[in-house]
Amino acid sequence: MKLFTSVHDVTDVNALVAEALQLKQNPFAHQHLGKNKTLGLVFLNPSLRTRMSTQKAALNLGMNVMVLNVDKEGWALELKDGAIMNGTTVEHIREAAAVMGQYVDIIGVRSFPGLKDREEDYSETIFNKFVEFCGVPVVSLESATRHPLQSLADLVTIQELKKTERPKVVLAWAPHIKALPQAVPNSFAEWMCKADVDFTIAHPEGYELNTDFTNGATITNNFNEALNGADFIYVKNWSAYEPYGKVLPGNEHWMLNNQKLQLTNDANVMHCLPVRRNLELSDEILDGPNSVVVHEAGNREWAAQAVLKQMLEAL
Ligand code: CP
Repeated sequence: MKLFTSVHDVTDVNALVAEALQLKQNPFAHQHLGKNKTLGLVFLNPSLRTRMSTQKAALNLGMNVMVLNVDKEGWALELKDGAIMNGTTVEHIREAAAVMGQYVDIIGVRSFPGLKDREEDYSETIFNKFVEFCGVPVVSLESATRHPLQSLADLVTIQELKKTERPKVVLAWAPHIKALPQAVPNSFAEWMCKADVDFTIAHPEGYELNTDFTNGATITNNFNEALNGADFIYVKNWSAYEPYGKVLPGNEHWMLNNQKLQLTNDANVMHCLPVRRNLELSDEILDGPNSVVVHEAGNREWAAQAVLKQMLEAL
């Protein structure tokens, strides 16, 4: 594997999930692969889980790791080709990405959307420029429109915890006060549509996702109907795709609580984290027996390790 930006970069999703679960059993079996190899992790936005789990995954494989918070510690990057750089930007992404590629064997990049210009966000300008200019394999640490390492960890978690061969999985919109990206729900939908699950997306009217990511899903505005018989509820907020990046008023009742959980098949409750308590998800759910959010975050390590292992094997 030379590029990991979406489920479309994976030749065999089931095999990758199985590999992640094998690595969980035996994390240090492939240390020879990463010997004298360096992973660069480049963050243009904050992170806890992605940063630590990917770093740990690389260490498990015997790699060295360098982390650059380029938004805080690097020179201000210019993205536009042909720009006359007489403003605040100091270094063009053409040189910056190419230079990073001189020091590392694989680069991970996190770059969130601006949520102002849909066309620009969905063209993945920053991420694609890193891919174009760095000259080494690139793994997405969450881009403007997708979060594939999260989705792989989510699928690993479902595979581990499922009690039926083909579980019912529900992606449930949740309230939030801020406009959040569509990257996690887009990506989760895309992966679930390729997995052996019965997949439903439930959201209030106005929160329809881009249909490029949801082909094959059942989509409903009826939260209770979606919860009925669910084995996994994946709770997540996202801002509207149309009007782009907006928070629409009046949907506070979409927060999952124990009363709503009664409608499910004793569902496991998932969330990518970070989560705002008692806004997106109630204390009673997060502190209750059905929450698997910490277990799910733990699986980020094995998802990242499976991807890095396949990249190292292809170097
Ligand atoms: N879920 C996730 O990506 O967490 P971080 O933003 O903390 O990395």
